[in-house]
Amino acid sequence: MLGTSCSTRIAVIMVGLPARGKTYIAYKVSRYLDWLGVNCRVFNVGEYRRMYVGTKKLHTFFDPNNAEGMELRRQCAMRALGDMFLWFEDLSSGVAIYDATNSTRERRRYIYETCRSKEIEVMFVESWCDDEELIEKNIREVKRISPDYRHIDDEDEIVSDFKKRIEHYNELYEPLNCRPGGERPHHASEMLIAGPNGFSSIAAADADVYDESALTYVKKINVGSQVVINRIKSFIETRIVYFLMNIHIAPRSILFSRHGESLYNLDQRLGGDPALSPNGEKYSEALPGLIEKLMGDQELTLWTSTLKRTIQTGSKLKYPRLQWKALDELDAGVCEGLTYEEVEERHPEEYAMRNENKFEFRYRGGESYRDVVLRLEPVIMELERQQNLLIISHQAVLRCLYAYFLNIDPQDLPYLKIPLHTVMKLTWTAYGCDIQTYKVDIAAVDTHRPKTTSHKTSETGSASPSVGSAPFRQTGVNTYNSKLKSSIPVSRSGTDIGVSPGGASVAT
Ligand code: ATP
Ligand code: F6P
Repeated sequence: MLGTSCSTRIAVIMVGLPARGKTYIAYKVSRYLDWLGVNCRVFNVGEYRRMYVGTKKLHTFFDPNNAEGMELRRQCAMRALGDMFLWFEDLSSGVAIYDATNSTRERRRYIYETCRSKEIEVMFVESWCDDEELIEKNIREVKRISPDYRHIDDEDEIVSDFKKRIEHYNELYEPLNCRPGGERPHHASEMLIAGPNGFSSIAAADADVYDESALTYVKKINVGSQVVINRIKSFIETRIVYFLMNIHIAPRSILFSRHGESLYNLDQRLGGDPALSPNGEKYSEALPGLIEKLMGDQELTLWTSTLKRTIQTGSKLKYPRLQWKALDELDAGVCEGLTYEEVEERHPEEYAMRNENKFEFRYRGGESYRDVVLRLEPVIMELERQQNLLIISHQAVLRCLYAYFLNIDPQDLPYLKIPLHTVMKLTWTAYGCDIQTYKVDIAAVDTHRPKTTSHKTSETGSASPSVGSAPFRQTGVNTYNSKLKSSIPVSRSGTDIGVSPGGASVAT
């Protein structure tokens, strides 16, 4: 885990009105932590509500004056919380993300005190937003496809109902660290912003009981135009904060490609710093046409590794460029420059060990896939901050980047198929992303090796390059798309937690 051991159990408690991106943030943070090897799980109270109370709930269900609705929502929130505590029981370390509105101090105080009584650290993450246009866009983007509204076709009707739902929540909403019972802030500067020593203007009697200025929290205001950070303690918390500060929601495209076929690829040789093969050079010549087709005249930044084959592949592209050492291929140590057959002959034990656990196996004097994931973390942070990007890198590195975007398990990661002469384009979906692949019609060897020890090399693509009007084709081989792990454990149902948070308003 993160190359060090983390023995903390952290509950990240989301806070904010509906359609503020809480679920989006929760799954993004979860994918990032999962990728770094941190045990992470999202508990989404909306999913519990849909499971236990059903869908098709219009705004009146969320009205604080609807006593039955309030009680049902309280029970769903308690079930999700109970499952979160059960999940923590088996763990010495891990991060749970409790995704609900948690919009009142009373609710947050209950969660905080219960977590602390179980020795679970608490970090609140609030998304606060008063940009009406963005909120409406969010509703149209994600609530339109929510199971809650499957029975309504008219998008305007959905928007209108969801806005009323937001108003119901707003009646009780108390942003984090605001004066209890006081005016609710309309701007961040009116909020109580605590310094590292926890200054607080909350009434003394209340502060004795539950003082939000003394808690660990991050508050993202209007997507990130302001970020308030308070009392961050552990290493994992700092990673989460840094990540939250870097993510944005502006539309953009991220394209990936391996370098063109190299001279080493021709005989399945590992690593090194070879030049492109003749077909690899043809790919570098075809690439500008394909990128232009995909991006039009949009601005783009090109990232390559520091190795000859990626630099050559991008050499015909006319975009600002950056070389990253971190994008260099997995270092095969003593096996650099050998073919897989030579590795089997000269280092049979290592060869066998690699087949046993390819993700963890570290070449002598070189790296493992896990090492590559860890060295790519700064790349991911920068990538999250950037606009349009084209990344030209290597098989193992692109597998690791894919695994981040598509939430691939570490055991499957080293076997992902990332063919040569293919551009992959990330497309964002509501809470994750898909990948479209565009194959350039220039032959290249297949360097993918399945889990068994087959040594065959096969040809892909047509034998002769086509430079006609359709130099590439979209393969539609959308083999992987990001999985959203359901927040409801499959083995459990109907847990009756039966704990009352003391009449607090429920959040989901
Ligand atoms: P609910 O409480 O109803 O579950 P939510 O707060 O979880 O709502 P999401 O379903 O996550 O809201 O909304 C997703 C939308 O929010 C996406 O369109 C995404 O672009 C947008 N979004 C992501 N981050 C933010 C942010 N910090 N502020 C506002 N919108 C955001
Ligand atoms: O074969 C090309 C290559 O990029 C090698 O340089 C690298 O060692 C290898 O792929 C990584 O793939 P695998 O981990 O499947 O051996």
